[in-house]
Amino acid sequence: MHRRDLLLLLGLSTLAGAAGCGRWSASSRSAELSAQTTPSAGFLPDVELVLTAAPDEVVVLPGGPTRVWRFTGRLIKGPADTLQTIPGSYLGPVIRLRRGQRVRVRIANQLPESSVVHWHGLDVPEIADGHPRLVIDHGREYVVEFEVTNRAGTYWYHPHPHMRTGAQVYQGLAGLLIVRDAEEDALALPSGGTELLCVLQDRRFDAQNQLVFHGGNMMEMMNGFLGDLVLVNGQPQRTTEVDAAWHRVRLLNASNARIYKLAWSGGVKMTVIGGDGGLLERALSQQVLTLAPGQRADVLLDLTALAAGTEVHLDSQAFAEADAGVVGMGGMMGGGMRGGMGDRSNVPNGAPLRVMTLRTRARKGPAFRLPERLSSFDATWSPRADATIRSVPLSFQRMRWLLGGRTFVMDDVAPEESVAAGSTQLWEFVNLTNPMGMQAAHPIHMHGRQFRVVARTGGDVKNTLRAGIVDAGWRDTVLVLPGETVRVQVTFTRYPGLYLYHCHILEHEDMGMMRNFRVT
Ligand code: C2O
Ligand code: CU
Ligand code: CU
Repeated sequence: MHRRDLLLLLGLSTLAGAAGCGRWSASSRSAELSAQTTPSAGFLPDVELVLTAAPDEVVVLPGGPTRVWRFTGRLIKGPADTLQTIPGSYLGPVIRLRRGQRVRVRIANQLPESSVVHWHGLDVPEIADGHPRLVIDHGREYVVEFEVTNRAGTYWYHPHPHMRTGAQVYQGLAGLLIVRDAEEDALALPSGGTELLCVLQDRRFDAQNQLVFHGGNMMEMMNGFLGDLVLVNGQPQRTTEVDAAWHRVRLLNASNARIYKLAWSGGVKMTVIGGDGGLLERALSQQVLTLAPGQRADVLLDLTALAAGTEVHLDSQAFAEADAGVVGMGGMMGGGMRGGMGDRSNVPNGAPLRVMTLRTRARKGPAFRLPERLSSFDATWSPRADATIRSVPLSFQRMRWLLGGRTFVMDDVAPEESVAAGSTQLWEFVNLTNPMGMQAAHPIHMHGRQFRVVARTGGDVKNTLRAGIVDAGWRDTVLVLPGETVRVQVTFTRYPGLYLYHCHILEHEDMGMMRNFRVT
């Protein structure tokens, strides 16, 4: 049975490795819903832009350029600072929006395969959410229109095609989407030169500076693909000159599979002011901060007391590889399998890494005082112990990661995955231990609304990732460590339709650790 499953999986990975996915191309989709191809007459956008996904080349390492896929943007209408290109980066433009804006994006696919764009963390209508059945083929364009109803926060966008999300994000397709609002403006948080945007990704390069991705390497699909070089905003570790001032550091883990256990050097505390879904009610002071794929953190850093020329490092501290799961596959496959199935990163999950370095200039920044209370938004929320509880096991069976005991089927919805618009439920993600020793920490992401983590139990007390997890505030991606049960309270979007929830280790997602829920 193992052998047959293995072949099944290899078959799948071969399919995923081919450029195709034509089976889910725009032309063969079910008639039910298709991508919008023309702007709606009744929708008057405040912001309109074109986002093009296309092959390109950028210089990442000394030597020759690296072939990537990237988003480029063009502003048609809206404030001049809506799009911010990161110089020298393969990342897409930072899209800066305000709550309440009506936004139209024309998306052009110039990739050699089908794709679709998802706005991670935003609450948008089904047709704009980037479901894989809405992919458009090479050479085609489509339109999304939505109103920004989310509060201020750090969101992001990336492709979401069936079985190809990992490959497309890895090739470079991702970007930040920053929302501002009046509540956040009132805090006068550090901005401009003292707002640092840090997208963390790991990549592997060959001798010709080209990206290396797994070619159906089973172990790397099981574990998630790890690079051996950490890039910040698509660039290898650099030292950035900064004022001796307060800084706001927005962090996004856009890696396919790597978990970071972040800490400033010299014992400087991580002052966390926000998560996936915007500001916390009060700042939290953390020794370390665990950031799993898909997650964001908003952090303040006080450099005002530092002499010019002082260096502060952001590091990912060492942790046991087993804390992130993983997976020699017990006695079952042994060393021969690993040898036979290709190589792996020589920087495993948990290896200590330097992420970036800040060096202070003589110049001081404006005075800033961290307010006691950052946000009153939390007051709109209360725990609802009486709500429907749904148990969602995270498991490994027959060589696949499962979500709720199932694997992804394009438009399949189980009875318990049908939920009423605007209703509230408690979903409990149960990370099951497994007799074969296949176990992983899974960052579980839900599309639509941000949720609250109401309980975290079980797991291994020795897992040092646990102390770095911030459960406070609004989240769209929650890390469930091996053996843990995490209960979240979610009020579903008011937009009806088919939405996704999945593991944000992109190889797990592409292997089917993803399901639909239908909002009715
Ligand atoms: Cu960031 Cu469905 O994903
Ligand atoms: Cu998402
Ligand atoms: Cu997973």
